[in-house]
Amino acid sequence: MRRPLFKTRITEMLGIRHPILCGGMGPGVSDANYVAAVVNAGGMGFIVAAGFPDPEAFRAQLRKCRALTSGKGFGVNLYISGQAEATDRLQEQVRILAEEEVLCVETSGGSPEGVLPALREAGIKVLHKVPAVRYARSVARLGVDAVIVVGNDCGGHPGIYGISSMVQAAHAPRAVSIPLAIGGGIGTGSQLAATLMMGADAVLMGSRMLVAEELWIHRDYKDRLVRSDGTESVVVKTGLRQHHRVLNNESAKSVAALDAAGARDFERYRPHVMGTLTTRAYLTGDSRLGMLDYGPSVVFADAVQSVEAIFDEVMDDAQRAMRRMEDLRSET
Ligand SMILES: Cc1cc2nc3c(=O)[nH]c(=O)nc-3n(C[C@H](O)[C@H](O)[C@H](O)COP(=O)(O)O)c2cc1C
Repeated sequence: MRRPLFKTRITEMLGIRHPILCGGMGPGVSDANYVAAVVNAGGMGFIVAAGFPDPEAFRAQLRKCRALTSGKGFGVNLYISGQAEATDRLQEQVRILAEEEVLCVETSGGSPEGVLPALREAGIKVLHKVPAVRYARSVARLGVDAVIVVGNDCGGHPGIYGISSMVQAAHAPRAVSIPLAIGGGIGTGSQLAATLMMGADAVLMGSRMLVAEELWIHRDYKDRLVRSDGTESVVVKTGLRQHHRVLNNESAKSVAALDAAGARDFERYRPHVMGTLTTRAYLTGDSRLGMLDYGPSVVFADAVQSVEAIFDEVMDDAQRAMRRMEDLRSET
């Protein structure tokens, strides 16, 4: 494991060695095993609560992660749904987080306003993820502990504005003064160094981590990602205004056709976007069907590696980038 290179407000807040957050990956992709590997390698990971709908199975994941990390703090990803029936489940998840003394949450989706008081009461740090700086401003006013801004390159949900990570990384530090992480397309140490230089306190990685040995997804899929040149992602579900960056497979092409045809009715999308297809693809390695969150940063994945080996590579590259900056400094 590499020595710490950077001390930022986020490394301090979370007590982590490197300013690297690994975003929650559903459904159930980021589980206790993976998150523990991230935490033990010196970053912060998030178990996706929605991946474990049974409350006791969710609790068991938290306990397993705590045991695997010898009590170091770890995180949970909470999806904030706008739908009323999801509110009870969310409240129950928050109660379990408090009981299990989880260190932090990555919230995404809707505003975290409704769960903030309970999370704060339990002493849980809240890092809220948004796809545009305009949302970062409003969530900072709510009093979250940190904000994560992801750009259009990100695997998953890049939002409707399509603003690049490069622009967000430069804009967000001017717009918010709370601790800040930037994600979307990040997979190298030079990007980490550049993002910190632009004013952020950490990066967030998702797609780059999909080849991690500790993830349960099928080896054939990881091998496909290793071979990928990063050009295989596409943003679909634009017709529903639920922009989703995924692998451009058969399901994505069907969804893109619905978008192009002006479909607005979810029932027409359902056969192509069902979660069961996604889970089956990850389990079998057959990636032709299902919405498989995927961003161009998979191009940085040259091998199936442990999380620690990925972090070592990232930190060595960050070191090289810092030296290059030193070398580039004009003597005059
Ligand atoms: C396979 C996969 C699944 C994801 N699932 C979720 C999720 O359930 N909830 C969430 O907030 N973000 C999810 N994301 C987004 C990541 O947490 C993160 O924001 C994103 O991957 C960062 O961009 P990058 O992929 O370019 O690194 C997922 C991303 C991937 C690649």
